[in-house]
Amino acid sequence: MKKILITGGAGFIGSHVVRLFVTKYPDYHIFNLDKLTYAGNLANLTDIENAPNYTFVRGDIVDADFINELFETHQFDGVIHLAAESHVDRSITEPMAFVMTNVVGTCNLLNAAKNTWKASGYEGKRFYHVSTDEVYGELHNPEDFFLETTPYDPRSPYSASKASSDHFVRAYGNTYKLPIVITNCSNNYGPNHFPEKLLPLMINNILHSKPLPVYGKGENVRDWLFVVDHARAIDTVYHAGKEGETYNIGGFNEWKNIDIVRLVCKTMDSKLGRPEGTSEQLITYVTDRAGHDLRYAIDATKIMNELGWKPSLQFEEGLEKTVDWFLNNQEWLDNITSGNYKEYYDKMYS
Ligand code: NAD
Ligand code: TYD
Repeated sequence: MKKILITGGAGFIGSHVVRLFVTKYPDYHIFNLDKLTYAGNLANLTDIENAPNYTFVRGDIVDADFINELFETHQFDGVIHLAAESHVDRSITEPMAFVMTNVVGTCNLLNAAKNTWKASGYEGKRFYHVSTDEVYGELHNPEDFFLETTPYDPRSPYSASKASSDHFVRAYGNTYKLPIVITNCSNNYGPNHFPEKLLPLMINNILHSKPLPVYGKGENVRDWLFVVDHARAIDTVYHAGKEGETYNIGGFNEWKNIDIVRLVCKTMDSKLGRPEGTSEQLITYVTDRAGHDLRYAIDATKIMNELGWKPSLQFEEGLEKTVDWFLNNQEWLDNITSGNYKEYYDKMYS
């Protein structure tokens, strides 16, 4: 039985990756390593928590001794690394947390993989780093897209920490011949999205008739992909991606922030039976984010042509599924906004 370590599996994207691997590959044993920071929530995984091929481990990737011991004990065949501090606004107020988890934590995992795999041999092993398109900086010309060859130009503490960890992953591939692969994905949306990020924050505020804070003029552009399609892409690259390569993941789906917020308002009004235009009245323009990147847009031709992956959902369908999920899981949202979800797991794992 192959043993795969997935880090950050209690978070937004990680939970979808864990679910996909646990259910699709009964011959793999999936270890989910997560510190359960504010962003980690085991309620994201209740449907698979008792699966025989699944084990949850609470732990911090910044703790090198703990990571080395974990790798020694389990002798993983593969690592899919998602654990990270992931929110740009938090990286502006607390940059060092991003340096520790995203840079030092990634290096701890690289060292542990290198040391345990050196003894057993690299054959059949894989270290997969899940990264972001934000490492490429921002785009101004509407005809430009991020390619795998676009030079790195990170502009926020978050993107700088992810760029740094990408560089370390490539350096271990080059120097120690560690079998690595990296993907850089656009903005995700979908079930289990933590309500500090744009779409779930808007959905939650509309539910409670609270102001919808749009940064600056709402002119910034993001490229949105349904989270399950990202998880499917990770499955594809883990199994079929070429060693040492980078693949960009995205759905060619760009939206100006103000337009996507208006669409969320319209969808919510219709689902909640409120007159059209009710939620739009909540839109409030607020001070812009410091150093706010103007536009991200991924060219995903490489993964589509070389590995045959493509998104399964049109955006309107994905957004409707997402809104339905949040409306049907208001307890999940309330447990987060009240802080109850943290108290419960902190007690359970203390
Ligand atoms: P998230 O914040 O929802 O989840 C991160 C998870 O990592 C949480 O469960 C948290 O508890 C865990 N974690 C944080 N610090 C840890 C530590 N020191 N040790 C162990 N676990 C720790 O993040 P997400 O949005 O699911 O993103 C997952 C990965 O995908 C990140 O690496 C992120 O950079 C990347 N990514 C995210 C997006 C996006 O749109 N959200 C897009 C592209 C790439
Ligand atoms: P976010 O979801 O934080 O993702 P990222 O910064 O990684 O792209 O933000 C998406 C976009 O929405 C970004 O341009 C910032 C903007 N935004 C707002 O206008 N208001 C908000 O309250 C938030 C959280 C984000």
